[in-house]
Parts: sequence; structure tokens; C-alpha cells
Amino acid sequence: MQRIYFDNAATTAIDPEVLTEMMPFLTEKFGNPSSIYSFGRETKMAVEQARKTVAKIVNAKPAEIFFTSGGTESSNTAINAAVFDLKCTHIISSAIEHHATLHTVQYLQKHGDASLEFVKLLPDGHIDLIDLENKLQQSTKKTLVTLMHANNEIGNILDIEKVGLLCEKYKAIFHSDAVQTLAHYPLDVRKMKVHFMSGTSHKFHGPKGAGLLFIEENISISPFINGGAQERNIRAGTENVYGIVGFAKALSIATENNEKDIENITAIKKYMLAQLQNNIEGLVLNGDAENGLYTVLNIGLPLSNKSEMLLMNLDINGICVSGGSACSSGASGMSHVIAALENRNDVVPIRFSFCKNNTMQEVDIVVNKLKELI
Ligand SMILES: Cc1ncc(COP(=O)(O)O)c(C=O)c1O
Repeated sequence: MQRIYFDNAATTAIDPEVLTEMMPFLTEKFGNPSSIYSFGRETKMAVEQARKTVAKIVNAKPAEIFFTSGGTESSNTAINAAVFDLKCTHIISSAIEHHATLHTVQYLQKHGDASLEFVKLLPDGHIDLIDLENKLQQSTKKTLVTLMHANNEIGNILDIEKVGLLCEKYKAIFHSDAVQTLAHYPLDVRKMKVHFMSGTSHKFHGPKGAGLLFIEENISISPFINGGAQERNIRAGTENVYGIVGFAKALSIATENNEKDIENITAIKKYMLAQLQNNIEGLVLNGDAENGLYTVLNIGLPLSNKSEMLLMNLDINGICVSGGSACSSGASGMSHVIAALENRNDVVPIRFSFCKNNTMQEVDIVVNKLKELI
């Protein structure tokens, strides 16, 4: 059975060119970058070259780029550093953050390390920026704002430059989870005015287990993971050399092909939306489908026995899509993101997420199968 993979917001297939770039570091070039002999220096150089490449693409300095194990570790590091090193005692976040952020801020609140409040959402799931400004204005404590650049479930994109300006105005520390936008859009950390930014390579055809944490140069933090002096004393542990090399290669390929990919993938998303609207009755859109990520389309189907079994039946037919966050697929219950939206108690959410490898023919097959199953 041919598999159709429409779950690219969960993870993507590794690009063969990325794998080729990584292979020497999985085979003959296995030296430890901390070793002082040339065999180690060779891998150290590869890591530093990757750092330079990534820094240039996001308009950072190489010294502001830290490699981690993924988006989860990057966000945990940033948020904990803001609280414990930068002494933020108040956190402003949102109810629709990825669990990497949500569970971290809730943990800090529970343990009395910081107070926490969620910014209001507009009916379409966008962050209410007026409410954000009010909250910043009213905060008497040193504040961390942690808001994701784009939501992985509904695809809504934050006006990040505006949030950056607000944080600057009220002297708040700003962390953004850019896991769903890094490599998908040109990002400029200076324009975004972020102090911390998280990214992960498996969302753009790079390897799993390779993450990015941008830390603005004036910020000084202590490590979240203690041990050796790797990553300039910020993140201990022998470097994931092939992952880091793959990260930089995947980001470079995505950056080079950005315009073309955006055009093609947007066309697929638009076609899928039109086909669904023409063929499926009672469908609603979760989030701002028109202005959101070109990679994500989240629909809600009226609740029925058939719609509740849909994901399983699609799977039986070789179609991979997810209900809520695919990062927690397998977990039962309503997605916390959909639950936070207005009037979404009686819909079954389905997220389709696309990449450069998808085709219009695949859309036709999926829509026909949906029609048949409903
Ligand atoms: C928005 C967002 N943040 C964070 C993560 C976690 O990243 P990682 O899997 O690299 O830990 C994901 C998905 O996995 C995500 O979609």
C-alpha cells in the first residue's frame, strides 16, 4: 500500500542531500570534537562551520547559536534560564503553546518560582496583542514573555516583530518557539527582537535530535544540562556532530529553495481546502487558515461515530494525518489547542500538514477517501 504522508508538522522525511552530508560523520569522521588531535579538530570544525551557517541564515552571530537535542530542550533551557538566571518572576504565555513550553511554565508556577498568566485569545485563535500589552503594562515584576511564532496545530502566525517591540518597550525578556517557522520562512532574530528562540531540524527535512537555541549576546545564562564545557559551557555533552551538520545542511537547502517551496506548498494547501469545502459537509476551519502557516490546514468535522473513527480509518488506508499535536499522537483526549478555541467542543479536529514532497494527486486520494469514510 502506498503511504500518503500529510503529517509534516509532526516530523519530515530526511532530505537525501542532508543524509549525504551527514554520512561521513556517522562513519569515518567519528572523532570527538573536544579531542585536541587533528581527528577531533576535524569534527570540531564541522560543528563550528554549521554554527556559522545557521547564524548567517537567521542574522545572528555564531556565538549566539547553541545546538541542543531539539525544540523541547531549547525551550526548557530558555524558560528556566529566564527565571533562574535572569530573575524573571512573572511569565506571560498562552494556553495554546506546545507542551514543551506549557508544561515548563506550569511546572515553574507550581513550584513557586514564577507567577503565570495566559494572554487572551481572539476567536480565531490569534494572540490578543492588546491584552498582551495590558498585561505587560500591569506587571510589576521582571517578566518573561514566551509565545510561539506559529502554532503547530492550527498554524496561526504571531506578529512576532510587534511582540518583540512590546517586550522591548516594557523591558520584558522574550522567548519564542520558532519550531514551525524556522526554515519555512526567512527569520531575522534582530527584527524579531527575541532574547531566546527555539528551533528543531526534523521539521525541515533534517535529522531528529538536533535543535537550536538562539541566545542574544547580552544574555548570560548558566547551563541547563551540566557536565563538560561543550557549546561554550551552556550545554554539556558530546556534540551530536552528524545531527548538527545535518541541521545546517537542511536549513541551507530550505533557505535556498524557500520561494519555490512556499509557492508549491501553498498551492497544495489551497487546493486541499477547496476540495474539502466542495466535498465535505459541515466542515469548519480551526484557526486562521488563510493567513496561517502554508504547511498546516486544520479542519473540524461534525461529531459522529464515523468522524471519531476517522484517524484510525485513514491510517488503515495508509494516510498519515493527526488529530491534535502529532508530537503527542497516541495520547487520547481533545487537543489542548483546539479546546482553548471558542465553540470547538463539538468538532473532531484533523490536521493536514504538507511539505515539498506532497502532490495534488495525493490531495485527491485523501479527499476521496475522506468522502468515502464519512
Ligand atoms: C511548536 C513545537 N515546539 C516544540 C516542539 C518540540 O520539538 P522537538 O520534537 O524537537 O523536541 C514541536 C514538535 O515536536 C513543535 O511543533
